[in-house]
Amino acid sequence: MARKKIALIGGGQIGGVLAQLAALRELGDVVLFDIVEGLPQGKCLDIAEASPIDGFDVELKGTNDYKDIAGSDVVIVTAGLPRKPGMSRDDLIEVNSKIIASVGEGIKQYAPNSFVIVISNPLDAMVTLLQRITGFPYNRVIGQAGVLDSARFEAFIAWELGVSVKDVTAMTLGGHGDDMVPLVRYASVKGIPVLELLERKYKDKAKAKEVMEAMVKRTRGAGGEVVALLKTGSAFYSPASAAISMAESILKDQKRVLPTCCFLQGEYGVKGYYVGVPAVLGSNGVENILEFALDAEEQAMMDKSVAAVKSLVDSLK
Ligand code: APR
Repeated sequence: MARKKIALIGGGQIGGVLAQLAALRELGDVVLFDIVEGLPQGKCLDIAEASPIDGFDVELKGTNDYKDIAGSDVVIVTAGLPRKPGMSRDDLIEVNSKIIASVGEGIKQYAPNSFVIVISNPLDAMVTLLQRITGFPYNRVIGQAGVLDSARFEAFIAWELGVSVKDVTAMTLGGHGDDMVPLVRYASVKGIPVLELLERKYKDKAKAKEVMEAMVKRTRGAGGEVVALLKTGSAFYSPASAAISMAESILKDQKRVLPTCCFLQGEYGVKGYYVGVPAVLGSNGVENILEFALDAEEQAMMDKSVAAVKSLVDSLK
C-alpha cells in the first residue's frame, strides 16, 4: 500500500514544524511548498537528514511547483503573513486574501480530492475564501483554531491546579478572535468540574471565579501574548501541533472529537458561515458536528463571536 501524502502550503515558521511533526509521526510522505526558492527545499533536506537519528521512513520534498502536490490526501495551508506586535488577526485580511486566492487555485488544480486544513489568519475568513475558490465540499475544507485555543485553555488549567495536562479537558467554540468562547462549565479534570476544584483550592467561591475568569481572558489573548514576546511573528509550534492532530484524525480515521472551524448549515443556529464547533474528524473529513445546549451566558458569548465572524467574512471581496 502506498504511503499517505501530506502537502504543506507555506514553508515558513509553522510550515517547517508541520513538516517535522508529520515526518516524526510517519503520517506519510511530505511535500513542502513555498514561493521562496530554496526555503522549502532547505527545510526538507534538513529534516530528512535527521531521519536516521529519529528513525522515520518518509520522503520529504521541498518545492516551488504546485505540480508536486498532486495526489495529496491532506493539504495544510499556512501561506500568508503572520501578525506583528499591535496587530489583530483581522488586520491581515487584505494581504492574506490575495495569497489564499492563489493557493486555492493551486490546490483545486493539483489536489482536487484532498482534505484541506487552513491555518492562515484571519482564520475564519481565510477558510471561507479557500472553500469558495476550490469549490470543494464543506466536509473537506476546515480550519484549525479550536484545537489550539482549547489546548491553551487546558494548559493554563493544568498549571493552575498542578495536574497533568493529559487529565484536563476544556474546549473553546466560536471564531478565532478575541471573542472566542472558552466553555467554563465543561472544563474538567477527569470529569471533575474545574470550578469546583478551584473553589476547594481557594475555599472561596468569588476567588475561584476570579481565577477562572483570568484563565479565560488569558486564553482569548494567548496568541497575542506570544506575538508580544516574539516581536517578529506569531506562534508556530502549537498551531503546527494542533493541525497535525486534525490531519492525523482524518488520515487514520480516528474519529476524534476536535473543536474545528466548520461550515455550519443551521447547527448552533448559524447558517452559511464557518465557525468553531466540536466535530468528528475521520476519513470523510467532517463526519459529524456535535451539538449540545448552551446556557444563556454561553449563548450570548457565542452570538457575539459569530457576529464578529460574520462581519469579518462579509468584508471579503
Ligand atoms: N504561496 C505559498 N506560500 C506563500 C505565498 C503564496 N502565495 N505567499 C507567502 N507564502 C509563504 C511565505 O513565503 C512564508 O514562507 O508563507 C510562509 C508564511 O510563513 P511565516 O511568515 O513564517 O508565517 P507563519 O508563522 O508560518 O504563519 C503563517 O499562519 O497562524 C497563521 O497568522 C499566521 O497567517 C499566518 C500563517
